[in-house]
Amino acid sequence: MTKNPIILGIETSCDETSVSIIQDDECGIPKILSNVISSQTDIHKEFGGVVPELAARSHVEKINIIAKKALNKSGIKLDKISAIAATAGPGLIICLSVGLNFGKALASSLNVPFIGVNHLEGHALSPKLHNKLDYPYLLLLISGGHSQFLRVNELNDYTRLGTTIDDALGEAFDKTAKLLDIEFPGGPKLEEFAKKGNPNRFDLPKPIINKGGCNLSFAGLKTAILKITRNISSQKEKYDLAASFQKTIEDILYIKTKIAFDEFLKNFPVKERTFIVAGGVAANNGIRKKLIQVSDENHFVSIFPDLKLCGDNAAMIAMVGLEKFKKKRFDNLDLPANPRLALDKKAKFLKGAGVQL
Ligand code: KG4
Ligand code: ZN
Repeated sequence: MTKNPIILGIETSCDETSVSIIQDDECGIPKILSNVISSQTDIHKEFGGVVPELAARSHVEKINIIAKKALNKSGIKLDKISAIAATAGPGLIICLSVGLNFGKALASSLNVPFIGVNHLEGHALSPKLHNKLDYPYLLLLISGGHSQFLRVNELNDYTRLGTTIDDALGEAFDKTAKLLDIEFPGGPKLEEFAKKGNPNRFDLPKPIINKGGCNLSFAGLKTAILKITRNISSQKEKYDLAASFQKTIEDILYIKTKIAFDEFLKNFPVKERTFIVAGGVAANNGIRKKLIQVSDENHFVSIFPDLKLCGDNAAMIAMVGLEKFKKKRFDNLDLPANPRLALDKKAKFLKGAGVQL
């Protein structure tokens, strides 16, 4: 066994097939030896969204090739791998099963520990691939399926401070992009549209902005956009609507983050004020700028993952695997895929009509 453990991570929860190899390092920040990501955008483009059956089939076709590529790139021989970490949830169950079963088989044949990883914990720990980071910290997780403020107490120990009561932020970006006829995946392209428009042209709602603490809501915003798109036709108006949407999101996150800062400090005295923003939407430049601003104003140090590590990738899964490996938290080979795996298991379900804030 090498002195510094080497972890092979596998991610197949949605529409990215990814395998990564990372190695622990004395400096406290692991080395990413390879992080191969194969996106299925071309497969799902014509359907305007991810088709689970096609996604799973593509994972099955590619997982072996991607694993070989990741190994070749890393220069690491299979017999040097200390453990295998694979995403166990949340995500699409038929997609999760592909990576999970591949990982279990590999761990079994190499006779090394197998570690199941919560995909959301992967996002939560992704900045650790480039920064030294101590617990606890405040996390804003903004992805295609989740939008939550969490206190990260420790590995596998989370306290949810706020969550979306309807759509996730990435979902709001994707749905708005669709209404503006932007090709799938629309989220990243919407930001480009927004740069060409007037952000003050349309006054959009900011749902639950004055209530519900740092809980979030984006569904009303989408409805307002739907109504406006029925009455606009020119490209200029579409750019203006994209810009107004981008600005409204930035304003919502600014206000809600301030509330989250207060809740984080009020409930738990901390030595360091660290604010991590992770998940696919953390790649949005305008959002980054606004969150840096609110952090500076409130004396928080804001940290974002590298742009390449914001979206789904296996390096972040290997990162969680490495932390679990060091604590000898291994899983049995009968660990099931769990499409609903949460970070704070005690947090109340806060979605749907009639939810009490
Ligand atoms: O974390 P992620 O890769 O997958 C999930 O775990 O959901 O996040 C994907 C989401 C998509 O909704 C995508 O549109 C959004 O992140 N996204 C963005 C940007 N880049 C990706 N949304 C806004 N601006 C971006 N630049
Ligand atoms: Zn994700």
